[in-house]
Amino acid sequence: MPVATQLEMLDLRQFSARQLRPLLEAEAELWQQKLRWDYRSSIELLLQYLDSRILPGFVALDRGKIAGYTFCVYEGQKAVVGDAFALTQNVEQSQYVSDALLRKLLDLLLHSPSISRIESQLLLQDTGPMDGGFLDAGFTQHPRLFMELDLSRTPRTPGKAQRIEGTELIPWSSLYYQAAAELIHDSYRRHIDAEINDQYCSLHGSLRFLHNIVRFPGCGVFEDHQSWLLRETQTGRLAGMILCSRVASDVAHITQLCVSPSQRGLGLGKFLLNRAIENLRRTGTTAITLTVTESNRPAVALYEDAGFHVRHRFDAMVLSRNSTMWMRS
Ligand SMILES: CC(C)(COP(=O)(O)OP(=O)(O)OC[C@H]1O[C@@H](n2cnc3c(N)ncnc32)[C@H](O)[C@@H]1OP(=O)(O)O)[C@@H](O)C(=O)NCCC(=O)NCCS
Repeated sequence: MPVATQLEMLDLRQFSARQLRPLLEAEAELWQQKLRWDYRSSIELLLQYLDSRILPGFVALDRGKIAGYTFCVYEGQKAVVGDAFALTQNVEQSQYVSDALLRKLLDLLLHSPSISRIESQLLLQDTGPMDGGFLDAGFTQHPRLFMELDLSRTPRTPGKAQRIEGTELIPWSSLYYQAAAELIHDSYRRHIDAEINDQYCSLHGSLRFLHNIVRFPGCGVFEDHQSWLLRETQTGRLAGMILCSRVASDVAHITQLCVSPSQRGLGLGKFLLNRAIENLRRTGTTAITLTVTESNRPAVALYEDAGFHVRHRFDAMVLSRNSTMWMRS
């Protein structure tokens, strides 16, 4: 139901970090409540970008007052929707404003000839209310789950991690960037997640994905001592890996878990997951979170088996220029 409001949409680059800080700080509180993420370091990074006035996006003014913002980032010919967030007197009005912002941003991108692909994963947004703008523009929707293992309320220890014959477990090291990117690329061939995030589709993209996880705080602060590689003892090749970040002082996030296609179904995934859980538990972590595509049954089954439950549902949305649905100007 439309909500009576007097919205004005202005270019994000007209606004300073100082003007947007209160909105972003309110958003950080929501990240904390909804997902247990301490989003403050991400907010500080975003504010720096905002002050450099390079991010494409819009700010919604409601009767002259900042009510919401949206932005995207360009990666070559791809645009990734970074956020669409609004805060007004009530939830319904906020959703109306974020939806209007998103439609404005999509309109800009759909009419940009240099953009051939748009990806969005608005983690904070519930599935449903914000889907209209995307679906109207022809996006494909991929339901995703935000799962949590609450270690403080789950005394059940997962099955004792055994050593996996023919492999050795080694801690993450930057020496393994290339090998790890090769494993990621291999693991996501013909995988649903490669449709959602096209970085998985090439070795170069997988390397970029890895650099983003290790170097930038978008998915939390990378923890090398909580991230593990499984190496085949005979060949030295990587058979699997699990990468973890810190998203709050007592909450860790699994940013990657994958096993080489030739080694699946042998217990490697379970071994890596259990090993990470036990190490995190020992060092004072009270909860572990992760995101997974709902249709990725092997992964969802593995997580549920380890005690993870669904805390939140959101959507990944994708539109590619090859799609017949792309709206042309
Ligand atoms: C998900 C993944 C890591 C599982 O690794 P794996 O080594 O094959 O898994 P395991 O052999 O340790 O199996 C552990 C559990 O996972 C589940 N599982 C694994 N393969 C499965 C399949 N094909 N169908 C259903 N459940 C499956 C089962 O619960 C299994 O427990 P069980 O053997 O007691 O039934 C692996 O399939 C993978 O790398 N997939 C591609 C990348 C990916 O999707 N990563 C997760 C992103 S969130």
